[in-house]
Amino acid sequence: MKRALLNRFAHGVLLAACALTLAACGREESSTSGAAFTSTPEQVARGRYLTRAADCAACHTSKDGAPFAGGAPLASPYGTFYGSNITPDKEHGIGKWSADDFYAALHDGNARGKRLYPSMPYTSYRQLSRADSDAIYAYLMTVKPVAVDAPANDLKFPYSMRFGMALWDVLFLTDALPDASAGQSADWQRGRYLANALGHCAECHTPRDVFGRLVDAKPLSGAALGRVVAPDITPAGLAGRGWNGADLQTFFSVGIAPQGSAFGEMYPVVHLSTQYLDKDDVRALSVYLLGDTPPAPQPVKAVDADAAQLAAGRSVYLAVCAGCHGLAGEGKPHVAVPMNGNSTVRQADPHNLLVAMLDGIDTQHFAGLESMQAMPAFASTLNDDELSQLANYLRATWGGQSANVSAADVKALRQASH
Ligand code: HEC
Ligand code: HEC
Ligand code: HEC
Repeated sequence: MKRALLNRFAHGVLLAACALTLAACGREESSTSGAAFTSTPEQVARGRYLTRAADCAACHTSKDGAPFAGGAPLASPYGTFYGSNITPDKEHGIGKWSADDFYAALHDGNARGKRLYPSMPYTSYRQLSRADSDAIYAYLMTVKPVAVDAPANDLKFPYSMRFGMALWDVLFLTDALPDASAGQSADWQRGRYLANALGHCAECHTPRDVFGRLVDAKPLSGAALGRVVAPDITPAGLAGRGWNGADLQTFFSVGIAPQGSAFGEMYPVVHLSTQYLDKDDVRALSVYLLGDTPPAPQPVKAVDADAAQLAAGRSVYLAVCAGCHGLAGEGKPHVAVPMNGNSTVRQADPHNLLVAMLDGIDTQHFAGLESMQAMPAFASTLNDDELSQLANYLRATWGGQSANVSAADVKALRQASH
């Protein structure tokens, strides 16, 4: 038994060595074919659209930095990664790269012989078509070259050993991601490509195992991330929190739907990426998430709860929340989203609800004319008892969830690092 395992491992190492050798060969071969690449204006325009759909800017454009010049920090349990400079600068960016080199980075995590970490989501981009990779390359070659180096990754040992990634790839890199929904329609197929290849939704919404590998058996079923968790977006999970196709389309194109607004790491996804998708693609994405036969959205179910506790929660709500979210949790246009039926309130795990109350949400800009004020942070004005009573009131009244949040739950999140 042990021996078989050992053999498999040895086999993996051997394969990894081959992969490294191949990578090195591939590098020489491809760096000469770069000169041959010519692009058309249509290809560049399409590349711009695809670059947004794939949200390259989320990691390759830093706050206040030049587009695609890198430096956006990505915190992870392994340390901090920094998105590279992918402008066409010849020294600091990818100006010397051929279209083949570029495809190898997206498809194999091979950056001209250097193994990339899967913090660059080539595990998802692997599914991009060669034509789409070339279009993205054509577009990036037209952006302004910027002569800066992105900061070096700051990783803990042993993750700092980049060559280990070759082994990771051999063991874990797969060609396709499993589907959470069922379908066959053209919309479903297109949506699958938008979600899995371009939008890399699984990278945040699918849980990972101890090796950092996406858990195939649980596609899109929700995952711990940073301060805000990525919820379950399987058909059952979405329908269980009241989502239907039309509201999902509104959420992806505007960032606000009757079920609430995008916040945490989902806000940049909408802000930099999905709001630029055309109508057909937004529809396709929603069809893929819910499947060709979407489950019926569930109404909020009635929940038994202790009347005294609810009354205590309600008085806090009326004092500090109702002014924006409405007496009956109905929300106010251009002021705040509804609490009644809010998908964050409807999550079984109170994590995101508590984080929103403790930390607040900075002012966000939504598509079109839609704008709201900031959601204030209540960490310093409400204590653990008040916040747990409030959470229980919201859950039992408008979320169909049990009133089981304790003051200790609030305290734990208050103390957890941001
Ligand atoms: C979730 C964050 C993230 C997204 C989204 C992302 N990247 Fe990256 N990318 C990174 C990180 C981090 C690195 C550096 C990884 C490393 O050090 O191994 C990187 C490295 C690269 C490299 C290698 C650059 C070099 O000089 O070695 C290329 C090319 C690249 N990305 C292109 C893209 C393109 C094109 C897109 C969109 C299709 C994209 N990336 C989207 C995080 C991201
Ligand atoms: C000044 C107005 C204001 C007050 C007061 C306020 N909120 Fe909010 N709240 C907002 C806005 C605006 C958003 C959406 C912010 C965004 O996404 O940009 C929001 C978002 C939320 C969210 C996240 C859900 C979602 O879909 O975005 C929760 C949960 C929430 N509020 C709960 C509360 C609770 C509980 C209180 C009282 C302790 C409260 N809010 C007080 C304005 C307010
Ligand atoms: C960088 C991480 C990240 C990526 C990539 C990402 N999401 Fe999210 N998503 C989140 C987080 C965190 C939340 C919770 C905050 C919120 O509700 O806005 C969320 C919330 C959502 C919600 C709202 C769920 C609810 O019930 O409130 C939907 C729908 C969603 N994501 C769909 C997608 C789709 C589709 C993609 C791919 C196109 C995607 N997400 C990519 C992190 C991410």
